[in-house]
Amino acid sequence: MPSTVLVGAQWGDEGKGKICDLVAGDFDAVVRYSGGNNAGHTIVVNGKKYGLHQVPSGIMYSDHVSVIGNGCVVNPKVVLEEIDMFEADGITTKNLKISGNAHVIMPYHIDLDGAFEQKLGKKNIGTTKRGIGPCYQDKMARIGLRMQDMLDETLFRDKLETALARVNPELELIYNLPTYTVDQICDEYLPMAERLRPYITETSLLLNNMINEGKDLLFEGAQATLLDIDHGTYPYVTSSNCTAGGAITGSGVGMKNVDRVLGVMKAYITRVGSGPMPTELSYESEAGHTLTEEGYEYGVTTGRRRRCGWFDGPIANYASRVNGLTDIAMTKLDVLSAFDTIKVCVAYECNGERYDYFPMQQSVLFHAKPVYEELPGWKGEDITACRTFDELPENAKSYVEYLEKKVGVPISIVAVGPDRDQTIMRGW
Ligand code: GDP
Ligand code: IMO
Ligand code: MG
Repeated sequence: MPSTVLVGAQWGDEGKGKICDLVAGDFDAVVRYSGGNNAGHTIVVNGKKYGLHQVPSGIMYSDHVSVIGNGCVVNPKVVLEEIDMFEADGITTKNLKISGNAHVIMPYHIDLDGAFEQKLGKKNIGTTKRGIGPCYQDKMARIGLRMQDMLDETLFRDKLETALARVNPELELIYNLPTYTVDQICDEYLPMAERLRPYITETSLLLNNMINEGKDLLFEGAQATLLDIDHGTYPYVTSSNCTAGGAITGSGVGMKNVDRVLGVMKAYITRVGSGPMPTELSYESEAGHTLTEEGYEYGVTTGRRRRCGWFDGPIANYASRVNGLTDIAMTKLDVLSAFDTIKVCVAYECNGERYDYFPMQQSVLFHAKPVYEELPGWKGEDITACRTFDELPENAKSYVEYLEKKVGVPISIVAVGPDRDQTIMRGW
């Protein structure tokens, strides 16, 4: 199995965790390359459910290497909690490796995230308040602290002093919040650093050595295409490159090593947080309520109710373009069993103009009205036990084939339930 990037093709929560866990067996390492514990990836194996935030979804495979790459931001407390959770369940974390260049989420990042959101008021981004944006800001401003810095107390204290010289006035003068001392943070972080020391590694070297030995890597995207800092619905995005290109910079392997890009998309669409969403259905509408409750669309990280809508074709085409998708994994087809007919957005209309593609201008997207085509459903037929494409009802097969044609990329995996087994392989 060639090295593959698995990427969210919508606004996140597409089921990346499930698909990653499903296909990880074909690979030797699973690598997270962007984001931090804003991610919430669910895996369900034999009925047992895990919600992962930092640790890659390949962790269930004991002989696999699991990497948190340099493009990630890491909350040490959360990683340690996840390590403890897995070890308590008899799942080894001995092959977990954390890049020494990944940036560390500090307590003040979390404070600033919350305070800035509050200041934005109605214009808030709806962040997960995990400190992600401020941590990436410090990385770009070159005052961030990296995992490797935590392993050298003198260096850590020195760098922290520089960071606090900038952060403390912001906390105090702009937000009227308590400030931090170097000692206070060291007391909390240095003991965690000692526990994390065995995991902190030169992961780029490790991964390239694996490639040279003929091993295959799976890059596990977090967040998604429309939350990407460059390609997403800016400013309603996260602060990293979650698209497929991020796998290269976020892990330190060369482009020539990636041969396949698997986009994960739901058979409909969801979004958490603020920003435009052309096919959004209100929770009060019958279809919106059904998608939310049948799909159990509540966030793994914050518990927030996700906004739901019909499948958005222009977004799927856009995701195919900016990621270079070679395959699609379509999830949650089973949720659509609740409908007589199913709508698919094929274009937008705005100010009398038709857009067959995902428009660049924020103002167009905010006012875009979806143009729908309506397809017959397979209401009442339980498809969660189907394991081959031919077992699906005719209208479910037609729906998948219709979307495949619209996007122009093979749908090589179809998920019909949350469990690892509830999946139809179609040429993967
Ligand atoms: P991720 O962030 O992309 O990994 O996705 P999340 O884990 O945040 O959200 C996806 C949710 O859908 C989780 O609760 C999964 O267990 C669930 N899920 C994944 N695939 C399917 C599917 O095919 N059918 C159903 N009903 N649930 C699914
Ligand atoms: P997974 O990996 C869905 C959203 C937040 C907010 C915006 C910015 O589970 O798909 P941030 O805290 O990153 O600064 O928030 O991005 N967001 C996600 N939405 N799934 C995620 O991750 C998300 N991670 C961030 O809701 O709108
Ligand atoms: Mg999620």
